[in-house]
Amino acid sequence: MEVALKMAFQYWKHKGEPNKTKFVYLQNGYHGDTLGAVSVGGIDLFHSTFKPLLFESYEAPSYYCYRCPLNKTYPSCDLACAGGLDQILAEHNDEIAAVIMEPYVQAAGGMIVSPEGYLARVRESCDRHNVLLILDEVATGFGRTGSMFACEHEDVTPDMLVLGKGLTGGYLPLSATITTQEIYDAFLGDYEEFKTFFHGHSYAGNPVSCAASMGNLEAFENYNTLSELQDKIEFLEEELKEFSGLKHVGNVRNKGFMVGVELVEDKETKEPYAPEAKMGWRVADRAMEDGVLLRPLGNVVVLMPPVGIPKEDLKKLVRVTYNSIKEVTDNYQS
Ligand SMILES: Cc1ncc(COP(=O)(O)O)c(C=O)c1O
Repeated sequence: MEVALKMAFQYWKHKGEPNKTKFVYLQNGYHGDTLGAVSVGGIDLFHSTFKPLLFESYEAPSYYCYRCPLNKTYPSCDLACAGGLDQILAEHNDEIAAVIMEPYVQAAGGMIVSPEGYLARVRESCDRHNVLLILDEVATGFGRTGSMFACEHEDVTPDMLVLGKGLTGGYLPLSATITTQEIYDAFLGDYEEFKTFFHGHSYAGNPVSCAASMGNLEAFENYNTLSELQDKIEFLEEELKEFSGLKHVGNVRNKGFMVGVELVEDKETKEPYAPEAKMGWRVADRAMEDGVLLRPLGNVVVLMPPVGIPKEDLKKLVRVTYNSIKEVTDNYQS
């Protein structure tokens, strides 16, 4: 993410537009814990402490339909959230270098799933206002949403694509920031022009991590991971239907293998459980007793199984999660 931010900034300098130095991010977005990434982070819990250290950015509305920040209702909202972002670009495009967002699912923000058409609208806005689009597929990449990359669902090509996590199947640390020929070419010049992108780390391009990544990509091909996944996604979606019937499940959302089950104190009013209830953790602790490891995000129970999970394990994951939510929420007294 740091590479993407710096590269976008320097790109505009090379293009003779040095005023384009700002970024737009989405509410509830998460891009990592380093200061550049935190400056474009939209989760107060993680980011507000560091505010004095951060550079100023523009915040656009999240695509969080269940708790719409614009109080609209999908689909009659006509993607008002994308309209909100477009308005920021219309007013400030002369100083904006790039929009940065997680395509289709805001992961750490609570497994928030974007409405269809949103991503394509953002791409169109960025093009119209001469602003780059940086897509953070650190969480959504490598099959998690059902296609290799989430941006493929809407045929969107970003100006920069940021990858991590699943790039090595999680075996070793490695990330990559990929860009277009157009941006690459802007950094070319004679030696003494010093157009170089000066950014490096001791372990950049680590050959052992790269070998793990190559192995992972081979496994995708050899085991037909993506095509095998489709059947498992269908199964998962069928099983998830039952969750909505539970008394304290306010919203069930997923894109492929990225699932968020939002627990609420009151389904009618969408009143969340108070933080003291630690409801997500209560459910996770109960699931652990039955051999399932969950990591909640506040009141959102997260399922994000490995793409190669056998169907039997997937079945167990869903069953144990359902039973844990039911038992814990039925028995909880605030
Ligand atoms: C969407 C997204 N972007 C960026 C990051 C940060 O990645 P890293 O921890 O490799 O810096 C994460 C980590 O959870 C993430 O989910």
